[in-house]
Amino acid sequence: MSDVTPCLLEAEGIVKTFPGVKALSGAGLQVHAGRLVALLGENGAGKSTLMNVLSGVFPPDSGTIRVRGECVQFTDTREAQERGIGIVHQELNLIPYLSVAENVFLGREPRTWSGLVDFRRMEEETSQILKRVDLRVKPSELISDLRVGQQQLVEIAKALAADARVLILDEPTSSLSSHEVDALFAVVRELKAEGVGLVYITHKFEELAPICDEVVVMRDGERVGSGPLGEMSRERIVQLMAGRKSKELFQKTDTEVGKEVLRAEGISLPAHGVGRPFLVDKVSLSLKRGEVLGIFGLVGAGRTELLECLFGVHAGAASGEVFIDGERAFFRSPADAIEARLAFAPEDRKRDGLVLPMSVLENASLPTLEKSTRVGLVDTARESDFIRPYVDRFRVKTPSLRQAVVNLSGGNQQKVILAKWLATEPRILLLDEPTRGIDVNAKREIYSFIDELAKAGLGLVVVSSELPEVLALSDRVMVMCEGRKTAEFTRAEATPERVLHAALPDEANVLES
Ligand SMILES: Nc1ncnc2c1ncn2[C@@H]1O[C@H](COP(=O)(O)OP(=O)(O)OP(=O)(O)O)[C@@H](O)[C@H]1O
Ligand SMILES: [Mg+2]
Repeated sequence: MSDVTPCLLEAEGIVKTFPGVKALSGAGLQVHAGRLVALLGENGAGKSTLMNVLSGVFPPDSGTIRVRGECVQFTDTREAQERGIGIVHQELNLIPYLSVAENVFLGREPRTWSGLVDFRRMEEETSQILKRVDLRVKPSELISDLRVGQQQLVEIAKALAADARVLILDEPTSSLSSHEVDALFAVVRELKAEGVGLVYITHKFEELAPICDEVVVMRDGERVGSGPLGEMSRERIVQLMAGRKSKELFQKTDTEVGKEVLRAEGISLPAHGVGRPFLVDKVSLSLKRGEVLGIFGLVGAGRTELLECLFGVHAGAASGEVFIDGERAFFRSPADAIEARLAFAPEDRKRDGLVLPMSVLENASLPTLEKSTRVGLVDTARESDFIRPYVDRFRVKTPSLRQAVVNLSGGNQQKVILAKWLATEPRILLLDEPTRGIDVNAKREIYSFIDELAKAGLGLVVVSSELPEVLALSDRVMVMCEGRKTAEFTRAEATPERVLHAALPDEANVLES
């Protein structure tokens, strides 16, 4: 293997146990200057845990870490930072009500001679770093006013401001639009040219070719294979990840489509200061029993907001009409929608989907508690009996139903959300980015689920930013751009070119460059 550039960071034999789980059992990797190592593995393989150890979030039980050849032991993240190791976590960690500059310098604010925070210097230095990551926002802007892609770049800026020589990116693109991904990749290449070494965690194979030099595959807390990208075929990687031969790609079955279950007419949701008057602008749609309606669009197209409107989230602000089985429905809140047997599995698992400190069981049974309640008390035995099949069905990797969700891997948290909503036995299921952060094999499982549910007569609306996914799953594809519905295709009509074209704003062909 290539040892042409110096080894910046090396980990060997890292073991880490949590109560009930051996997350790492002898994991390791090497990061070289100016090179990017992709760290791959199924949900729960231990990728984030290894990165947490390398960045000082918690110490390993055993194993060695060397920084430029020297053995180190980090007791906290600051020590790792001082050794030049920066991390952008899977879930973003910025403080929304502080400015970009305040976040970049959080805990390391420059001071004036009198000991006050030197805001001028802080903003000047932030401007310099923002240039490095090619982010064109003001240092004084609030984080809450930025898009996710921009926030991601602020996180990278923050690591660079602390002088990172090794930068760890844990699934950075899972909520970015394709041109935001391009922007991120440009920054990654720039950093490589400057000699920064990177570790990059992803579930997306198409991201490897443009940026990656080496691949490390993990399974069950161990490194099971590694090598230069050129020597690792996709088939080989998937095989290493799964520990078995990978199965065929998802094949949609033809289902009998029934009567219309859901119709929406002229749904609009006013925006408040995002540069256009409506987040959702007079969108109409129809969904039949047994049908999968895919909604494609770039991030910010208004897809999530549309689903929220259908689910009664914006009852006060939204306008338009919703019909269930041909009858006008008035949802004053999501509770009304759940009552009508709608379910909505949202995209942002941290914000809407899960209560992180609560257990898998408590989370999964939230909307169905009354089924396990007797004389006003929750019967936990009954609760577990009812929920377990759903948790098993999605193969949630957890030592028990009692485990706090915060301790599950990102992908497994996503599966808990799906289990929870399926347990409500909905007739209409709204899924927003259902495979975000989920590994290839788990993805396939979710696809066949969606297929089965449609076969069982549910109507499904699936929002996704992954074109191949939308095309594989949907009976019909609806496309949105800047709040408006720009096209609708049958399965046969929906070619990648047509769908993508309808998703792009007229003026700018942002993907071309
Ligand atoms: N703080 C914790 N307490 C208990 N268990 C934990 C904790 N953090 C991680 N785990 C467990 O360790 C295992 C490895 O998790 P990790 O988050 O490293 O996986 P991952 O490879 O990053 O997966 P994903 O692709 O889903 O993000 C999982 O079984 C997870 O539940
Ligand atoms: Mg992870």
